[in-house]
Amino acid sequence: MSPRSRIVLAYSGGLDTSIILRWLQQEHNAEVVAFTADIGQGAELESARARAQALGVKLVFVEDLCEEFVREYVYPMFRANALYEGEYLLGTAIARPLIAKRLAGIARETEAVAVAHGATGKGNDQLRFELGIAALDPTLKVIAPWREWQFQSRQELLAYARQHGIDIAGGTDGAPPCSIDANLLHVSYEGGILEDPWTAPEATMWQRTVALEKAPATPEELLLEFHRGDAVALNGNTLRPAEVLTELNRLGGMHGIGRVDLVENRYIGMKSRGCYETPGGTILLKAHRAMESLTLDREVAHLKDGLMPRYAELIYNGYWWSPERQALQQLIDATQHSVSGEVRLQLYRGNVIVSGRRSPEHSLYRQDIATFEAGADYDQQDAGGFINLQALRLRLNRQLRLSVTAPPMPPPHPDVTR
Ligand code: ARG
Repeated sequence: MSPRSRIVLAYSGGLDTSIILRWLQQEHNAEVVAFTADIGQGAELESARARAQALGVKLVFVEDLCEEFVREYVYPMFRANALYEGEYLLGTAIARPLIAKRLAGIARETEAVAVAHGATGKGNDQLRFELGIAALDPTLKVIAPWREWQFQSRQELLAYARQHGIDIAGGTDGAPPCSIDANLLHVSYEGGILEDPWTAPEATMWQRTVALEKAPATPEELLLEFHRGDAVALNGNTLRPAEVLTELNRLGGMHGIGRVDLVENRYIGMKSRGCYETPGGTILLKAHRAMESLTLDREVAHLKDGLMPRYAELIYNGYWWSPERQALQQLIDATQHSVSGEVRLQLYRGNVIVSGRRSPEHSLYRQDIATFEAGADYDQQDAGGFINLQALRLRLNRQLRLSVTAPPMPPPHPDVTR
């Protein structure tokens, strides 16, 4: 008789991963180890432990990873000002590498041969888990039940759950209104009524932000302090990264900040419509850029900006644990040594408005040079020569084209000839 193999399952405690848990026990004849991470999703997790135990699981890991999540993943990502396709702050994408790391870690600790996750075969998350596991522990097998099992519909899944005594809480007799993924950085919504990109989200859907018309009519001022690219204090209080984000979420949420409704390109090739609320992250991004505007050299800033879309795409596509992401991170981190100081902001009805920035030690801004008054170390006459040389090739280009093909000049505007 072969010994029962152990499989570590990324277990949320919800219905889908409960079904997966039972299915792994049945179909893979496995001893399932349940791993539930608290990354600030706001769910009560001891019930996940109880639920796993009720399904016969002996080894249950429930871990509070909030601090690690923000310090080791969210903060490094924000040093790059990462945005996917100009809008998505990568709230789900950045959480997966940490889950993958702990899956691999717990597999080692429990001598498991495989890990399993509840991501479907249509999304990005399967890549983030599995590319992560491949990079962290290539000896581990990965099981993705959604790609393996025969269930064709939600109904069949629910029937399986009933058959196996899994509690179908909350009267989920059909599909849920939409699929939700939450953590300390964001809440995301996909599927259900959102599948039609023309259908507006229901006002009641949003969990973390108020509607603009319900936001306070007076702006709220706040002061964020940065040290080497990371937000370290809010309104004079030194806070740990997860505390900063929690507090920014509360303030941003109150002022209706950080709702996005978009269509994005998934790595597997399809487009999908998603809604996101990222109140704290939206404030953080704006503030970090303001801090960099004062403290980064122009060419360094532009170099970072050029690399950013690539870096964001790596995270989105699941390459957090890749050598190229790590190499980019080293470069980004090296740029942040000077990114220290303070940013003053106002939150007002969905807007994050920067109203001041200062960096006593690292500011490259020189008022004595920028001033409209005659200033030090700058001779306006130099600008004339600078422009002449910059203009040289433009003049030559034009002259050549005039002599070779003589392109017609645009006709004068009728107003001019009258
Ligand atoms: N589309 C987003 C991403 O790929 C979110 C995915 C998970 N969200 C969800 N509601 N199931 O990062």
